[in-house]
Amino acid sequence: MVSAAAQVGVLAACVVLFVPMGLAGWHLSRNKVLFFSGALFVSLAVGVHLSPYLPSLPHLLVSSFHPLRPAAPSSSSSASCISVLHRVSWADAEPHGGGRAWSWPPSLAATCGFARLTRDDASTLLNGSWVMVAGDSQARLLVLALLRLLLDPAAAAAAEPELFRRHSDYHAAVPARGISVDFIWAPFESNLTRLLREDLRLAPRTPDVLVLGSGLWHMLHVTDAPQYGEALASIADAANSLRSPLPVPPPHMFWLGLPRLVNPMLNTDAKKEHMNDTMLQAYDREVDERCILRRDGGPFRLLDVGKLSRGCEQQCTADGMHYNGVVYDAVMHIMLNALVIESQQRI
Ligand SMILES: *[C@@H]1O[C@H](CO)[C@@H](O)[C@H](O)[C@H]1NC(C)=O
Ligand SMILES: *[C@@H]1O[C@H](CO)[C@@H](O)[C@H](O)[C@H]1NC(C)=O
Ligand SMILES: *[C@@H]1O[C@H](CO)[C@@H](O)[C@H](O)[C@H]1NC(C)=O
Repeated sequence: MVSAAAQVGVLAACVVLFVPMGLAGWHLSRNKVLFFSGALFVSLAVGVHLSPYLPSLPHLLVSSFHPLRPAAPSSSSSASCISVLHRVSWADAEPHGGGRAWSWPPSLAATCGFARLTRDDASTLLNGSWVMVAGDSQARLLVLALLRLLLDPAAAAAAEPELFRRHSDYHAAVPARGISVDFIWAPFESNLTRLLREDLRLAPRTPDVLVLGSGLWHMLHVTDAPQYGEALASIADAANSLRSPLPVPPPHMFWLGLPRLVNPMLNTDAKKEHMNDTMLQAYDREVDERCILRRDGGPFRLLDVGKLSRGCEQQCTADGMHYNGVVYDAVMHIMLNALVIESQQRI
């Protein structure tokens, strides 16, 4: 369904992309220009590790195309689309009794081009990329959602027991696409700071996509919101210093927010005592006030698990803290669509 005009567009895009990159002497081998085509839009996507090289690219692209749709989204509409990515609605899944299902309202999906990525689209988007997810059990559940998308069902099922081995790291790969996925067990903020300051700083390469999140262990074992806030500030500091200047592209960074906690459902007395609504609000406030999120000038884009888990409600959790796969499926698709928006300009 790619029209001739769009093909001309791609050619133009390649010129616009590669001429400045050639001038700047980048290695072209890792860079990709590819198409996602859908019923509602045809979009040009650039692999996730390309965009950081080219901060001014969106402008060039927008002005050099004759869009299929009357109005080409400007970078400001991309920004506003990113800000509404979490507006999903929940309904009972069909057939009845199949739990809950999420979707973007059709008008929003159409305006912003939001779509669930197929396995093919996701592996094209992430082609050649290294995705690292570090944190507690929520981070692990996000990795599971990602493996379920990227791997075939049998391979994803086979990966699960290894991934869920208690308190350990996990590595998976999609060799055909050169995709690496790492889960790093890092339940405390100090574990994340160390990862950023030591392990990743010394590594020859940094991940292309880096998702971090923690707080539940701190709430349970330390129960001190201001101290959590200080730890978050150190993480933000460390993450900012990882965003070193060109030519090393900084990772796309996401922060996995705290889930809703259903206190009466929590499965130990200690959890019931320490992880109440008051504490959760205090911890969430620290996330808002420590300048770790992009909207506050920080390094991380929020993956708002709190909002999504509140939308899915009690039906989606057995222990009041860990949610069903459908919630992390939503988190993952929101992340992938954010990557698409960050990495591409639609035509
Ligand atoms: C994916 O990356 C590999 C190398 O890692 C490259 O050979 C291939 O052309 C890429 N495919 C796409 C669709 O970009
Ligand atoms: C995480 O940090 C805690 C507290 O500093 C430490 O005891 C633990 O060994 C660390 N865990 C990992 C996996 O680094
Ligand atoms: C919530 O938990 C904290 C820490 O255990 C405790 O000090 C506080 O009294 C609790 N608040 C409520 C409303 O239960």
